Amino acid sequence: MIILVGGEKGGTGKTTLVTNFAAMRRNQDSDVLVVDTDKQGSASYWAATREGNEQMRRVPSIQKFGKAIASEIRDLASRYQDIIIDAGGRDSLELRAAMTVVEKLIIPIQASQFDVWTLGAMSELVNQAIAFNESLQTFVVLNRASTNPSVSETAEAKEVLEDFENLVLLNTVIHDRIAYRKAAKSGLSVVELQPKEVKAAKEMTSLYQEVFS
Ligand SMILES: Nc1ncnc2c1ncn2[C@@H]1O[C@H](COP(=O)(O)OP(=O)(O)O)[C@@H](O)[C@H]1O
Ligand SMILES: [Mg+2]
Repeated sequence: MIILVGGEKGGTGKTTLVTNFAAMRRNQDSDVLVVDTDKQGSASYWAATREGNEQMRRVPSIQKFGKAIASEIRDLASRYQDIIIDAGGRDSLELRAAMTVVEKLIIPIQASQFDVWTLGAMSELVNQAIAFNESLQTFVVLNRASTNPSVSETAEAKEVLEDFENLVLLNTVIHDRIAYRKAAKSGLSVVELQPKEVKAAKEMTSLYQEVFS
């Protein structure tokens, strides 16, 4: 599967999803490659950190920039079972190019900064990409939702997303938890943390299943 994690904003959790998916895929025996198109290189940094941990299965990563990534991804698709692309921030050349070749686009949205304008712009971009890539499926996932049960960010998001036919809200909500930062720092997925971080592992597994099944 070729998956792109992208969006118009920085800091919404793109690299967090890319690195968690990649490690989980690898642990399921998939031959997975992370393609980092963000000049900040945080996904590559994560993969390099992971390499220092001999107990974990290595996740290969490469950095690619520029619009040629569309054809490069097509080439790589014959050599890897799964390709997971970190599209970095903004409406980048890389994001637009990658959207024309991937099967699924996942857009993390920060629950508290939930923003209709960003969604409108993304929906527009998705429509343009579909002209080249008919089978593109686009999903939105709420990230960093409050763990306080009295805050109901999900309902509001659902309502807003109903206006965008080409954006589908995933059922799993990812909450704001220290475990995500801990895992990122150590080159791990939240499901690999010891001692176990049960709630984070459970929600990330649920998201993984929604995306990869
Ligand atoms: N669900 C979460 N809970 C806690 N921290 C998170 C969560 N998702 C992301 N973060 C943290 O927020 C920051 C931005 O996330 P990141 O995945 O790097 O975003 P992006 O790649 O979209 O810029 C990072 O420090 C990351 O560890
Ligand atoms: Mg990032």
